[in-house]
Amino acid sequence: MNMTFKDVMQFYWGYLKTYKIQAVIIIVTIIISTTFGVLAPRYLGRAVEELVNYVTAVFSGQEATLEAFHGILFTLLLFYIFSEIASFINIFLIAAVAGNTTNRMRIKMFKKVERLAIRFFDTSKDGDLLARFTSDMENISNALQQYLIQVLSNVAWIIGIIWMMFRVNVSMALLTMSIAPFAWVITIIIVRKAKKYADLRQDSVGELNAYIDEKISGQKMVITNGIEEETKKGFGIYNKKVRVNSYRGEVYGGLLFPIMQGIGLVNMAMVIFFGAYLTVTGDVGRAAGLGMIVIFVQYSQQFYHPLTEVAAMYSQMQLAFVGARRVNEILVSDDEVEKPDAVELTGIEKNLELKNVEFGYLPDKQILKDLNIEVRKGKVVAIVGPTGSGKTTIMNLINRFYDVDSGEILIDGVDIRKMTLKSLRTHVGIVLQDSILFPGTLRHNIAFGKPDATDEEVMEAAKQAQIHDFIMSLEQGYDTEVSDENNILSTGQKQLVSIARTVLTNPALLILDEATSNVDTVTESYIQKAMDRIMVGRTSFVIAHRLKTILNCNHIIVLVDGQVLEEGNHRQLMEKGGFYSELYYNQFVVD
Ligand SMILES: Nc1ncnc2c1ncn2[C@@H]1O[C@H](COP(=O)(O)OP(=O)(O)OP(=O)(O)O)[C@@H](O)[C@H]1O
Ligand SMILES: [Mg+2]
Repeated sequence: MNMTFKDVMQFYWGYLKTYKIQAVIIIVTIIISTTFGVLAPRYLGRAVEELVNYVTAVFSGQEATLEAFHGILFTLLLFYIFSEIASFINIFLIAAVAGNTTNRMRIKMFKKVERLAIRFFDTSKDGDLLARFTSDMENISNALQQYLIQVLSNVAWIIGIIWMMFRVNVSMALLTMSIAPFAWVITIIIVRKAKKYADLRQDSVGELNAYIDEKISGQKMVITNGIEEETKKGFGIYNKKVRVNSYRGEVYGGLLFPIMQGIGLVNMAMVIFFGAYLTVTGDVGRAAGLGMIVIFVQYSQQFYHPLTEVAAMYSQMQLAFVGARRVNEILVSDDEVEKPDAVELTGIEKNLELKNVEFGYLPDKQILKDLNIEVRKGKVVAIVGPTGSGKTTIMNLINRFYDVDSGEILIDGVDIRKMTLKSLRTHVGIVLQDSILFPGTLRHNIAFGKPDATDEEVMEAAKQAQIHDFIMSLEQGYDTEVSDENNILSTGQKQLVSIARTVLTNPALLILDEATSNVDTVTESYIQKAMDRIMVGRTSFVIAHRLKTILNCNHIIVLVDGQVLEEGNHRQLMEKGGFYSELYYNQFVVD
C-alpha cells in the first residue's frame, strides 16, 4: 500500500491536531527566534557603522558620543536573550508533543495488534512486526522531535534572510544568492548518492541480521552437517556488504558539510570583494559600506547553512515517511470481525455442526470442500488424515481464527459468526499442534488461561493431563522456570502442559490437535491416557496422528484433501478396507 505525501501529512496531522495550542506557541517561538536571529546582523552592522562614525568624528576633532553605539549593543543583547528563551520554550514543548504523540501511536498500535485477525500474523514475520514497534517508531519520533521543527525553522530562516538582504542592499543580496542554485544542485547530487548507500546499507544490515538469526537458531543443523566453514564464509560476504555500503554512505554524507562550507566561504569572499568595491567607488558611504560588509558576511554564511541542513535532513525525513507508512499498514489491517448484535455463547446444549463448509486461505486455493461434520454434546469425534488434508484448518475455523468462505458452523443451531468472539473462545478450548510455552514457571504456564487458579486446581489439571508426576520429579516442581527455547520439556511433555492449561479453563468444547513431532513411547502413552481422561463427558474434537490414541472412538472421520472420505468407528472402517485400514496397517508395521 502506497501513501502519498498528502496521506502521510494526514497521518501525522491526525495525531498532532490535539496539540493546537502547543503548535501555535511553537510556531510563534520559531518566528520570534528567527526574527531576532535575522535582525541581529543588521544591528551588528549598525553598531559598526556607529563606531566608524564615532572614530571618524574623533579623528577629525568633532564632538561625538558612543550613546547610539551602546544603545544598539544593548538591543542586541536583548535580542539574544529573547531568542534563547524562545528556543528553550520551543525545545521543551516539542519534546513533550513528540513524546506524547509517539506514545499514543505505540499504544494505538499495540491495541490494534491485539485485535488483528490471525490472518495478519500468519502472513507477516514476527521480526518485521517488532521492527514497526521499535525502529519505525524511533524514526517517527526523531522526525517529530528534531527534523520537523528544524525544517520549519530553517525555512523561516531562509525567508527571513532573503527579506533582510533585499532590504539592506539589492545588488549585494543578488550576489549572495547567485551561487545558491549551484549549491543546491551539488547538494542534491550528494544527498542522492548518500541516500542510495544508506538504503543499501539498511538492506544489507537486514540481510546480515537474517543470516545470523538463521544460523544461530539452526546452530545444531550447522554442526551436524559440518558446514561451519561455509557458514563463516557466508557471514563474511554479508558483513563485507554492510561495511562497503556504510563506508560509501558515510563518505558521501560527510562530504556535504565541507563542500557547503567551501561554497559559503567563496560566497563570503565575493561579498567582501564586491562590498569593498561599492564602498571604495563611493556608491555607498564609508561607514555604511563597512556596516554592510559586516551584515552580508554574516548573511552569506547563514544563508547557506539552513540550505545544507534541510538537504541533510532529507534522508531522515524519508525514514519518517516510511515509518508512517509501516505503522499505518498495521492500523488499517483487518480486525477480527464481530457483529454489533453478537450474542453470548453460554455452553453447548445439543451439538456443533459444520454444514457445507468451504474454505481456502488464499482465494485461488480451496482447502476444505463441502465439509459436513457433527459432534453431539458429550461425544468425541476423531479426525485423521494425511498431512495437509485440512485438519488444523478445521480447528482454525471453529475458533474463528478464520471465517468460512461459504457454508456455516453452528453451535446449537446458531452460526458462530453471530456470537461474541470472547464467549466463543472461552467455551472452546484448543490444544495447538505445536504447543508453546511462555517464559515463566510451569505453574504460570498451566494457569495461563485462569490466572487466579489455586494451586490445587493447577495440580488437578496437571494430573488429568498426566504431567503431574513428571513435574514433581523436577527439582523445583511447579516452580521450574521454562521457556519455549530451553529443552527442559520434550515435545510431548510440552503438549501435556498445554493440555493441562486447556483443561484448567474447563471448556465446553475441546479441540485437541495432536503433536506431529516424534514423541517417545512413554510420553505417547501419557498423551493417550490424558486424552482418554479429559474427553470423558466433554464434547471434543481430536485430530489424531497416532491411530492408537483413537481406537476407542466411536466416530472417526477420515479427511483427505479437505473432504470426508470415510467415517465410522474403528471396526467399521477396518471392515471397509479403505484408506483408514491402510493407514492403520502402515502405522502398525512402522510401530
Ligand atoms: N496460514 C495459512 N496460509 C495459507 N495456507 C495455509 C495456511 N495454513 C495452512 N495452509 C495450507 O492449508 C492446507 C491444510 O493445512 P492444515 O494445517 O489444515 O493441514 P493438516 O491436515 O493439519 O496437516 P498436518 O497433519 O501436517 O498437521 C495445507 O496445504 C497448507 O499448506
Ligand atoms: Mg495440522
